Amino acid sequence: MHTEKHHHAFEPKIVAFVCTWCTYAGADLAGTSRMQYPPNVRVVKFPCTGRIDPVFILRAFQKGADGVLVSGCHPGDCHYMAGNFHARRRFTAFRALLDFVGVDLNRIQFSWVSAAEGGKWVEVVTELTERVRAMGPMREFRELDMEEHWSAHVNTPELQAVYNAIP
Ligand code: FES
Repeated sequence: MHTEKHHHAFEPKIVAFVCTWCTYAGADLAGTSRMQYPPNVRVVKFPCTGRIDPVFILRAFQKGADGVLVSGCHPGDCHYMAGNFHARRRFTAFRALLDFVGVDLNRIQFSWVSAAEGGKWVEVVTELTERVRAMGPMREFRELDMEEHWSAHVNTPELQAVYNAIP
């Protein structure tokens, strides 16, 4: 099929917001164990997925991401106790919101990857990259001009650092 051929020329940019405590260490383990995974993923460390806000996802799309991954500790393992249960509830609300503003939800993945799960990290990023590659580029949010509004949500130095690190 030539649509497939056409999409194969396109390499998606994937931004991964990962919890410092678990998924970041899992990704690091995959790297040090020399597991192969797509180089499309740009990792941004997040203090806890409980702190994630749709602003970060929209900002990533505005800056040219074609897909976004949010990944943290397994429910129950969060260093801030209920942080990721809280995140899980929020993800449901985010999905509805992102769907409403026109983001194709196939471009977003939420997952749990522990520090010991280098293999799972590889699986998650490979699947998302392949899916987004087949979907083609995401251009809809590149022109968004919302920074003034967004900055109200980025209200701690920690979150500001994450916001500034979005590639
Ligand atoms: Fe990892 Fe909360 S500390 S998700």
